[in-house]
Amino acid sequence: MSAVLTRLSIKPLHPLFVAEITGIDLTMPVAREDFRAIWDAFNEYQILVFRDQPFDDESQIAFSRNFGALETMEAHPGNHFKPSHIAVMTNLDAQGNLLPLDHPSMIHRLRNEAWHTDSSFKPVAALCSLLSGRVVPPAGGNTEFASGRAAYAAFPEARKAALEGLTVVHRVAEPSNVNDPAYNEEQKQRLTVTHPLIRANPVNQRKNLYVGSHAQEIVGMPREEGKALLDELTAFCTQPQFVYNHPWRQHDLVIWDNRCALHRATTFDKTKYRRKMHRTTVAGMVPESAFASMPQAGAA
Ligand SMILES: [Fe+2]
Repeated sequence: MSAVLTRLSIKPLHPLFVAEITGIDLTMPVAREDFRAIWDAFNEYQILVFRDQPFDDESQIAFSRNFGALETMEAHPGNHFKPSHIAVMTNLDAQGNLLPLDHPSMIHRLRNEAWHTDSSFKPVAALCSLLSGRVVPPAGGNTEFASGRAAYAAFPEARKAALEGLTVVHRVAEPSNVNDPAYNEEQKQRLTVTHPLIRANPVNQRKNLYVGSHAQEIVGMPREEGKALLDELTAFCTQPQFVYNHPWRQHDLVIWDNRCALHRATTFDKTKYRRKMHRTTVAGMVPESAFASMPQAGAA
């Protein structure tokens, strides 16, 4: 199937970040020139919204691979311990019935309602996530995004200098929750990593805070002091002026830059409404300078 060059239109949805792109069908092969425009917009806006993209898993994986190699999700209750390139965020069981609120998968998914970046607990943190709205509730179940880049830019120079060079410990699970059944000990050990607090986009060099719920300690700082600083920075990033709230329509695709944006799901009436979202996640690379130019389509 050959790709057809389209006329993309890019419209900002927020004063500081986020753009909606129209004029392209992402479920079909995308021309390299069109992906170049999407890649440039991704680096500029951090969050991209596309409407009316009726993906199935195969076409979502195919489009996602334009950004690079895909992550395979860890086995956990949210994917019924079956790793795959597609992570399903839903309140439904395999037969399409509503899950009870006390089901392990529902409890696990409550983590998505805390501000976080995907896979920050992996040695190579994620580049971006692509979330496809398959079944969307009529009220609630939004996704909120916060710009760690806009927040960083708002700090005075002295504060930026004080934060430069700090290193943060990210964990997949809270160490205090020793009975957490979602991850085994091997996973908890392997998925405890460090990343710099301040990161820079390798294309435009704009810096950002890299925080969120997996960021739990600062290297070389007393545990409580580090946690308090990280909580303060996450609260700063998630002030209303740095936040975009996305109300979903069926067949929306939203792509977010995990390197510089935080996100969280908002709640909805899970005893009444159905919600099913399919996510692909594109792995990052080491070193980050590998992203100075547009990625080649991923093979994994
Ligand atoms: Fe997430």
